[in-house]
Amino acid sequence: MTRIAALPKVELHLHIEGTLEPELVFELARENGIDLPYRDAEELRARYAFDDLQSFLEIYYENLVVLRGRRDFARLAHAYATRAHAAGVVHAEVFFDPQAHTVRGVTLTEVVDGLMDGFERAHAELGITTGLIACFLRDRPVAEALSTLDELLAVDAPIIGVGLDSAEVGNPASRFTEVFDRASRAGLRLVAHAGEEGGPDSILQALDDLAVERVDHGIRSVDDPRLMSRLADERTPLTICPLSNVHLNAVADIASHPLPELIEAGLHVTINSDDPAYFGGYVDQNYAAIVDAFDLDDQTVARLAHNSVDASFLDTSRQQEIH
Ligand code: HPA
Ligand code: ZN
Repeated sequence: MTRIAALPKVELHLHIEGTLEPELVFELARENGIDLPYRDAEELRARYAFDDLQSFLEIYYENLVVLRGRRDFARLAHAYATRAHAAGVVHAEVFFDPQAHTVRGVTLTEVVDGLMDGFERAHAELGITTGLIACFLRDRPVAEALSTLDELLAVDAPIIGVGLDSAEVGNPASRFTEVFDRASRAGLRLVAHAGEEGGPDSILQALDDLAVERVDHGIRSVDDPRLMSRLADERTPLTICPLSNVHLNAVADIASHPLPELIEAGLHVTINSDDPAYFGGYVDQNYAAIVDAFDLDDQTVARLAHNSVDASFLDTSRQQEIH
């Protein structure tokens, strides 16, 4: 573990809302005068046994009720950055779900300003840097994604890119072409979740219809050798989240995760934690799980950390500095 934490790395697939630990849920509920349907953090944590992505998303969205104002988002961001720093993360490109908050009546400015407060404090204390990526919820209307993007641009939100998350199956990426076109024209970087529960076709849509620069998850590319060769040739990074895939039954168990095949095929693989408060571990624990399951040697582990730096949207001089 020490060896893993000592490797400088970048986290590229992390939902800030997925770092909301049960203890913080209770703390914020108490401060905000919110009654929760659980006795304590332990009872809440006991509910974290998921059948699939959908069953996870229900509780993930439900817990957001405790995030009410700017200070709550600052607490969340600071707690994550502190924990990530301990795992050797020197930079994180962090997802947040604007619509999951605006539909509850929390303003975009409160969310973004709060996250920036927490990250700026962590940067001053620890030197860790962050970039924000606003994800659109693919199971909500395209028109809402478009107006969310317009509002982000109107308030000059300090985001580096946009992504696409929530329920993949039945909500094709191709519906969001106009949103991603508009984001690209505004100078934003593009990523999307694809190939988590959806198949190779979902990944192809993210690549061809949205023109994403990284694929979040992308593990089902293993089902299509031509797609695997394309991803390897184009050096498209995959942001893989091993413990998430186990907890949401995207794979039967860690030993049957396709990670070794993806590495073997020369894909630009990175290791990340997705929603660490829900899936049993932060990024160091994700590295530890795959080292253990696949008996990875030091060189392979170092390469995975190296990949995470190269796959980031940092400029090359900062990438070099980290290496
Ligand atoms: N997949 C899709 N959407 C999400 C996830 C995830 O793992 N976490 C938060 N939103
Ligand atoms: Zn995710």
